[in-house]
Amino acid sequence: MTDRTATDRTATDRAMPDRAAAAPATTAHAIPSAATVRADEPHPAADTASLGETARVAATVLLPAVATGLIRRRPAAMQLVERYEVDRLAVRTLRKLRRDHRGRPVQLRLPGRSVTVLLDHADVGHLLAEAPAPFSPATLEKRAALRRFQPHGVLISEGGERAERRDLNEEALQPGHEVHHIAGGWPATIASHAGGLPTVVGWEQFSDTWWRLVREITLGGDTVDDREITDLLTALRQRANWAYLVPKLRRHRERLLELVRQQVAANRPGSLASALVAAADHAGSGGRSHGSRHTGSDAVASQLLHWLFAFDAAGIATFRTLALLAAHPDMLRRAREEARDGAADAPRQLPFLRACVLESLRLWPTTPALLREARTDTAWARNGATLLAFAPLFHRDSARLPYADRFAPDVWLDGRAAAQPALVPFSAGPAACPGRDVVLFTTATFLAVFLRDREPQLDETGGARLDGGRVPASLNHFALRVSG
Ligand code: HEM
Repeated sequence: MTDRTATDRTATDRAMPDRAAAAPATTAHAIPSAATVRADEPHPAADTASLGETARVAATVLLPAVATGLIRRRPAAMQLVERYEVDRLAVRTLRKLRRDHRGRPVQLRLPGRSVTVLLDHADVGHLLAEAPAPFSPATLEKRAALRRFQPHGVLISEGGERAERRDLNEEALQPGHEVHHIAGGWPATIASHAGGLPTVVGWEQFSDTWWRLVREITLGGDTVDDREITDLLTALRQRANWAYLVPKLRRHRERLLELVRQQVAANRPGSLASALVAAADHAGSGGRSHGSRHTGSDAVASQLLHWLFAFDAAGIATFRTLALLAAHPDMLRRAREEARDGAADAPRQLPFLRACVLESLRLWPTTPALLREARTDTAWARNGATLLAFAPLFHRDSARLPYADRFAPDVWLDGRAAAQPALVPFSAGPAACPGRDVVLFTTATFLAVFLRDREPQLDETGGARLDGGRVPASLNHFALRVSG
């Protein structure tokens, strides 16, 4: 179950052959490698769920995930999720399943689809470490949803294509480096956007500012006011929530790809697009042993579209972190001290603010359902079956984590989070998020700029209590309002 071919190995693997043992090169939290997991441990066989258990998981875990939007969050559904703390219900269901099956993986009895739910922390580490074979990230659901706007994205690629596209992403995004080599001017750019936020900031104002910033650092300064690309992407993502159930918006997709190709051709210095073009050129000039057949202009456009799409989650995490800080005066004081310590316009590492963003993602993971598809028969699932690790079950496991329901950024600084194989807001292993360090740099710098001059207060949470010690299981970011 642990065999991985040479083409499965990524640039990070090759640079760090024994990632479980290797110290991270430049960051306290380099791509997590499921460090506590030993790949040669035997996997326990999966149990089969009863019909009642399957119905409960479907009602409290699977349906709410689809209702809130797997690809783009729906405001009305988010409101209900927060009001009824739906995530807590989901965790309760899965905890009972774990107790009743003694922690073994459990295969649900769904019509037409085989889904195995993982319930044990170490098993999640194995699942993520053993990508892309035997457990591929390119599941049926992701292929159906994402091929609408990123048909050549690494997340839905397989085999040699995946290996080349993964290399491309790693070379361009530089996971493991806290400060990207092209990010020298980003603090000034971020300050020019964050500084323009009004005194009272709701999601609408925040998101508008965020997308202007994302267009600038991803595509280049000329695109700050050009909303067409991000609006088209939003329309396609809304459709993608329904995966294969509704027809594609073909004209939107073609227009979007055309616009992105134009941006790639513009190749603006200092943008992430320029780093991607340089990586693709490198692949094209034979810089890699396995050539560049799968890294041409369509593949470049697809990766860029994934990046733009993924920055949405980074905006949500930033806004939630701001709300958490506003509700925790001690943490806010430490964050403001870090924000004010050092030059505002130079790239800085900002460890505490990075930890605060990671902690917001632990409490409310923006990718709660980590999905894999078996590419061969295994003890857990037959070839073609889906495997699910529901992150909130592990991130909020009060039986194992004394800080499960508290805002505790220090766990990301003192090794406690790194010792847990299933605290995985950016996933882990060979298919972990290669954008992690770009995200943490951008979000922490954004927060530093905001907190340098302002002391935020929490005006509105839509009913959620963030200051009561126990942080709620769900948080509707659409309802937040911060002033300062
Ligand atoms: C808060 C922000 C983000 C979070 C929490 C996040 C988290 C994740 C997670 C959990 C995965 C694994 C998904 C899966 O296995 O199904 C992933 C994959 C990925 N992410 Fe991110 N991501 C974020 C932002 C970004 C950004 C901004 C970029 C690019 C600039 C990016 C690039 C990617 C890519 C290319 C993959 C696919 C990796 C592969 O399949 O090998 N992400 N991300």
